[in-house]
Amino acid sequence: MTNLKTHILQDERSLHRDSAERVVQIAAESIAAHGGFYLSLSGGKTPEGLYRQLATAEFAERIDWSRTHVYFGDERAVPPDHHDSNFRVANDLLLARVPIPGDQVHRIAGEQPADQAAAEYARLLTRTVPLGENNLPCLDLVLLGVGLDGHIASLFPGTDVLMNYKVPVAPVFVEKLQAWRVTLTFPMLNKARHLMLLVASAKKADVVRQALCELPGAHPLPVQMLRPVGEIEWFLEAEAGRHLCRGTDA
Ligand code: 6PG
Repeated sequence: MTNLKTHILQDERSLHRDSAERVVQIAAESIAAHGGFYLSLSGGKTPEGLYRQLATAEFAERIDWSRTHVYFGDERAVPPDHHDSNFRVANDLLLARVPIPGDQVHRIAGEQPADQAAAEYARLLTRTVPLGENNLPCLDLVLLGVGLDGHIASLFPGTDVLMNYKVPVAPVFVEKLQAWRVTLTFPMLNKARHLMLLVASAKKADVVRQALCELPGAHPLPVQMLRPVGEIEWFLEAEAGRHLCRGTDA
């Protein structure tokens, strides 16, 4: 995969700073290229440090928030003020701390039934994100974490949504969590101009090795199913990247 770059950072502080720097670069490139920066944020713990970093004056002042539009890669079936809400985390750590116009932050309505929230979000994406080839909304940057089971966004192993290439957003019931989620689907992820995967902690070293060093088998991990047309960059804290094979450019 020629569009793959792997960055191994010595610690989480470097992971947050280097990934924040990359977000600033992609924002500037996107705005210069087509007048806007269309970004989808990830849930989970790993990106929290990145959100805090982006909210500091050192980084926030380098992004033109008036031209930035924020979306979410997935959301839990909870209201926006719930502890588990991906929107709440990003809003508390970043969005409420930068001058982004309120109508340019587009959360997934976790408080609604998942099928309804997904259908509404699909319409919103199509209405507000510039369309790329084959009339799919084309995000400039998608931020993702990776679960221990290789899930990305809420594309979990063994779920039907992995095979849903018809819609940009879908509801999914995750048996192992006994919970509904709403998630961007592979067509949306694959069409993005840039994908950034942020991974930290030694417990993720195996899934990182599988994703970057092993050919997908009969039952590939969701992260192995990505087929990005744009650039994909892994930002790995050293412990997460410690099992990487030779030849993985870093
Ligand atoms: C979510 C995320 C999910 C997350 C991974 C990794 O809603 O939880 O979208 O895909 O990125 O589970 O989570 P950590 O960063 O907490 O390990």
